[in-house]
Amino acid sequence: MSKENDHRLSESLLEAVRSTSQIVALTGAGISAESGIPTFREAQQGLWAQYDPQELATPEAFQDHPRRVLGWYRWRRDLIRRAQPNPGHQALAVLERKIQARGGQFTLITQNVDSLHQRAGNQQVIELHGNIFRSRCADCHQVHPAEFPRQDQSGDLPRCPSCNGTIRPDVVWFGEGLPQSALQEAIARTSSCTLFLSIGTSTVVQPAASLPFMAHDRGALTVEINPHNTPFSPTADLILQEQAGQLLPRLLEQAWPET
Ligand code: OAD
Repeated sequence: MSKENDHRLSESLLEAVRSTSQIVALTGAGISAESGIPTFREAQQGLWAQYDPQELATPEAFQDHPRRVLGWYRWRRDLIRRAQPNPGHQALAVLERKIQARGGQFTLITQNVDSLHQRAGNQQVIELHGNIFRSRCADCHQVHPAEFPRQDQSGDLPRCPSCNGTIRPDVVWFGEGLPQSALQEAIARTSSCTLFLSIGTSTVVQPAASLPFMAHDRGALTVEINPHNTPFSPTADLILQEQAGQLLPRLLEQAWPET
C-alpha cells in the first residue's frame, strides 16, 4: 500500500485510468458531503451522531412510529432536493463517458440514496441501498414516487392504491437485505474489474464493505479516496487522503491533460 499526498498523482494510477477497460467506483456518503449532505458516521456532523438509527432506519421503527420515520425521510428529501452535484460527482460522470467512448465498461455502485450521481449525468448506477425519491408498498412491492400517494388531510398514513398496503420509503433499513439484482450485479462487476475506486465510504456496512476487498482479492488495482483511514486502508494499493470533490477532478485533468 502506498500513500499519495503530493499534487502530482502517480503515473501508474493515471495510466490505469487511461487504459483500463473495466472500472468500478463504489461511493458512499462522503462523495455527497461537499454538496452539503451530512454523512452518517462522522463525529458531530454525522447523522448517526444526532439521530438514533434504531429509531429511524429499521423496520421496527417504522412499525412503531411511522409518522416520525416518514417525517425524517421527508426532511432528508427536502435537504437533498436543494443540494447540487459537486465536482466529485461531475468528474465520475465524465469518467463514465470517457471509458464508454473507448468501448470500456464503467460501473458506479453507490450506497447513497440521493440521486446526485444520476443528476450529475452518470447513466449506469447500481443503487445498493435504494433511493429516497421512491416509495414502495411494503405488501405488494409496487414502486411509487416518494410523495405519492400523499398523506390525506385526516393525517392517515399513505396507502397503496393497488392493494391498500403500507407505503414506505424505498430504501434499505438496518436488518434488511439489499435488492438482490443490484447486489448480484455489483458483485459481478467487482469480480471482473481491473481498477476499483472506493470513494467516500467508511467501509463498515456490509455487504457493500466487502466489495473493495473482493476487488483486491481478484487482482484489481484498488484505490481509496477518503480524507480518513477506513478498515480497507491497510489493504488498498493506493490511498488518496483528500476530499473527493478535489481529488477526482484532478485525476481527470492529469489523466487527460489535453481536454
Ligand atoms: P459514512 O458516514 O459511514 O462514511 C462516510 C465516509 O466519507 C467517511 O469515511 C469519511 O471520512 C468520508 N468522507 C467525508 N467527507 C469526504 C469527502 N469530501 N470526500 C471523500 N470522503 C469523505 O457513510 P457510508 O460509508 O456511505 O446505510 O455509510 C454506509 C451506509 O451506512 C449508508 O448507506 C447508510 C448508513 O447507515 C443505510 O442507511 C442502510
